[in-house]
Amino acid sequence: MSDAIRPQPGILDIALYEGGKSEVAGVANAVKLSSNENPFGAPDRAREAFQRAVHSLNRYPSADHAGLRAAIAEVHRLDPERVICGAGSDEILNLLTQAYAGPRDEVVFTEHGFLMYRIGALAAGATPVAVPERERVTDVDAILRACNTRTRLVFIANPNNPTGTMIAPAEVARLAAGLPRQALLVLDGAYAEYVEGFDGGLSLVEARENVVMTRTFSKIYGLGGLRVGWGYGPRHVIDVLNRIRQPFNLSTVQLDTAEAAVRDQDWVTKCRAENARMRAWLAGALAELGVPSDTSAANFILARFSGREEAEACDAFLQQQGLIVRRVAGYNLPHCLRITVGDEASCRRVAHAVGQFKGTR
Ligand SMILES: Cc1ncc(COP(=O)(O)O)c(C=O)c1O
Repeated sequence: MSDAIRPQPGILDIALYEGGKSEVAGVANAVKLSSNENPFGAPDRAREAFQRAVHSLNRYPSADHAGLRAAIAEVHRLDPERVICGAGSDEILNLLTQAYAGPRDEVVFTEHGFLMYRIGALAAGATPVAVPERERVTDVDAILRACNTRTRLVFIANPNNPTGTMIAPAEVARLAAGLPRQALLVLDGAYAEYVEGFDGGLSLVEARENVVMTRTFSKIYGLGGLRVGWGYGPRHVIDVLNRIRQPFNLSTVQLDTAEAAVRDQDWVTKCRAENARMRAWLAGALAELGVPSDTSAANFILARFSGREEAEACDAFLQQQGLIVRRVAGYNLPHCLRITVGDEASCRRVAHAVGQFKGTR
């Protein structure tokens, strides 16, 4: 390896992101509950749009995403000019970091915040700052205390991954109001649709100049494999992001499929209700087995064990039963396992297997 050819500072500090496992060696048809995917898949209308898009593969896609932005704006009653679409919300998060943070700048997030915030900060040469939470809940005062003249971005996911906890809109508003002038608040709403009556922070974006919200098609819309996300922000921010976005960052297949999906709000309502029902059931069943979790507002629960050893042993046991959940030691939660709320049969299998595991100890 040449000493002379080096990446930008920060890049070699990035630990590779590991996605959720999808297979267990020697186990056929394992159930994947490790990536917070929708067990019911994508709405039919989205699948049909995907099939139709195959007929125009020779054509370049729309560079301005007008159709998808219009659909998102119509459904959420937004200004389409202030919507931006990307290859997953990850791309929007990255564009934000690339545009607003650089060497000597600080990027703030919470101690168990989504790993991409740290990765994006390091990739931009900025300094990641992880702020303590209060019992796995975002602590607005701790974030405000961590801010200074170098803070350029503050990321919070609400609900948060992997804790599943969320804070009230009034707390988010207090955070936005208390930030230093040069700092932008990014509200990551990857799981916002799972919360009945919650706008993901849209009204705060409308009310302020320093707040951006991101959303995804990967979770409740069941399109994790498609890679589409979007953001909504003040005009000045969206203008900046559009300047650095690749013009053809989304294919026609992605655009048309996501547009059909967002127009199917009945699907969202149905999946939210089913998720809430099974989440409550699963959390209750595990609690009865001595495995507590915080009240989750998302499509997963963070199951707490007595320590790392028990969590790892339970994970190994579940894998033998064909159930793949997520270890979260990389989030400094080695005593926990994050379990996606699957369909009823999967949830029952998880509870049964955890019961068997506990019986062996
Ligand atoms: C909190 C949070 N934000 C963003 C994402 C990125 O989602 P995507 O890039 O698939 O839109 C995820 C995915 O797991 C997430 O958990």
